[in-house]
Amino acid sequence: MDLINNNFKNKDIISLDQFDQKSILKLFRETARLKKSSPKKLLSVLKGKIAGMVFFEPSTRTFSSNTVAFKRLGGQTVEYQNPLVTSSAVKGESIEDMVKMFEQYCDIIVMRHPIKGTLKKVADVVEIPVINAGDGIGEHPTQALLDMFTIWEKFGKVSGLTGLMVGDMLNGRTIHSLIGGLSIFPGNKIYLLSPSSLKLSREEYQLYSKRGIKIIEISKTSEIPSNCHFWYWTRVQKERFEDKKVYEKLKLSFILTKKLIEEKAGKNTLLMHPLPRVGEIDLEVDRDPRAVYLTRQAKNGMYLRMALFKLILKE
Ligand code: NCD
Repeated sequence: MDLINNNFKNKDIISLDQFDQKSILKLFRETARLKKSSPKKLLSVLKGKIAGMVFFEPSTRTFSSNTVAFKRLGGQTVEYQNPLVTSSAVKGESIEDMVKMFEQYCDIIVMRHPIKGTLKKVADVVEIPVINAGDGIGEHPTQALLDMFTIWEKFGKVSGLTGLMVGDMLNGRTIHSLIGGLSIFPGNKIYLLSPSSLKLSREEYQLYSKRGIKIIEISKTSEIPSNCHFWYWTRVQKERFEDKKVYEKLKLSFILTKKLIEEKAGKNTLLMHPLPRVGEIDLEVDRDPRAVYLTRQAKNGMYLRMALFKLILKE
């Protein structure tokens, strides 16, 4: 995997492991600039470019924000939202052959796939840049980058932070990328609250801890420290369970409620969630000004992806 090394030109985005502090901050500054730009002026940035959007798993935000980001910069997209029904994958065509075709037609591929590691494989097969939009239980790098941007925008830094992550640490790819991203900056401390069977894998726990991020695993809401910079709630990843009865038992282990916020959150704690949510946030929390999941966090996804496309593709 190519390291970004402060130069995004033609690079693949597969994992947070490709990043260093400087590259992340460059991306954030570009995102902030684009947020302030007039939409009309941006239409020439990717004029004449075409992106292939290939999603083997369902998606609302990642698909639409990537597509809209590309179009807002004047580019166009070719879209497969259900390739197992609509493409020659139905006939048994391999993923390697499929992406070779996209390489002939497009300037960049954004792909989501249920199997961890597939995006790295795809990036090795084609010369054009490839963006990982989620590979099974692996990573979801652009989600973590937009999450970190949202934190950076609020606190002016992504170091020296205390955060809480809740839900499915084992299977949650946004969690994996976000811990990876936060471990690039010094002084971060995260509390992971999950059912004991959904803890971070020991390999990942050791890998990230070695990089210097402090990980504290907790099992009850009473152990949440007060005054975190952010809370990052997630859903239990239903599609990763062989036994749906086990999922049913675990899915609502931890619910974000107004009462919990009153007890444990700080005045400035960002309340985040990558979405979709399926019952783990009480609807009345939506009205809390600290809740950004349906608003700023989601919108930043569009701007961050615009910045990424610009840095990767602009001549
Ligand atoms: C996440 C995903 O697909 O990994 N959604 C997203 O892209 N915002 C989170 C999830 O599905 O739980």
